[in-house]
Amino acid sequence: MRRPLVAGNWKMHGSRQSVDALLNGLVEQEWPEGVELMIAPPALYIDRCVGRLQGSPLSVGGQTCATQAEPGALTGEISPAQLRDAGCGYVLVGHSERRTLFGESDAVVCKKFAAALACGLRPVLCVGESQAERDAGQTADVVARQLQVILDAFGVGGLAEGVVAYEPVWAIGTGLTASPEQAQDVHAMIRARLAMLDDAQAQDVRIVYGGSVKADNAEALFSMPDIDGGLIGGASLNAEEFGAIARAAGRV
Ligand code: PGA
Repeated sequence: MRRPLVAGNWKMHGSRQSVDALLNGLVEQEWPEGVELMIAPPALYIDRCVGRLQGSPLSVGGQTCATQAEPGALTGEISPAQLRDAGCGYVLVGHSERRTLFGESDAVVCKKFAAALACGLRPVLCVGESQAERDAGQTADVVARQLQVILDAFGVGGLAEGVVAYEPVWAIGTGLTASPEQAQDVHAMIRARLAMLDDAQAQDVRIVYGGSVKADNAEALFSMPDIDGGLIGGASLNAEEFGAIARAAGRV
């Protein structure tokens, strides 16, 4: 049985004041049994979040990390070792905003994935196609290419140590959610691809969906057989809404 993960990606939102208010709201939520919970705040607020969430079922993750674990002359970067030291258990790698706005290639994403694993962080590998790629019928190829670099380096076992997040770029922050069937198709395709390499491990890999997940569409998405939770952007900035999404994962 795969344990669902519901993770919040706060992106570049928040101030000390609003983060404290959100944390207060989160600690008051009723969290479901059997669902793993994580939030990825801006790095500046990780310490604050780790402190406030101690004793709660929520863990904290980074939104990205440097390509190396070792300290170095990399102005502005944060290493996965530092994230681990700050109390993180997870780190997102290859989010589409990092890929498109910061030019992160598959090779860079793979280095980040490797550096995270080397530090004992679980990497959440984000994959997904743009609207143009979907329209051109390239969804399967794009997602397969994004997975392949990781598979070449670490095999299916590497992905089983982390998490795959399928996030169609056209659904991120747009209010356009993939239908449960559209998402399930891609999740099943990903698992089938992994199963060709190692069927037993493929069944253990968690594949979460991201892209305009809200309290009112979460349960239908999470009910799909290959959707093992969600990566939530905008809706994770509201404690009630994030709590409701997590509880939906607990019901399926
Ligand atoms: P969204 O973002 O839920 O606001 O669409 C998802 C993500 O980028 O992880």
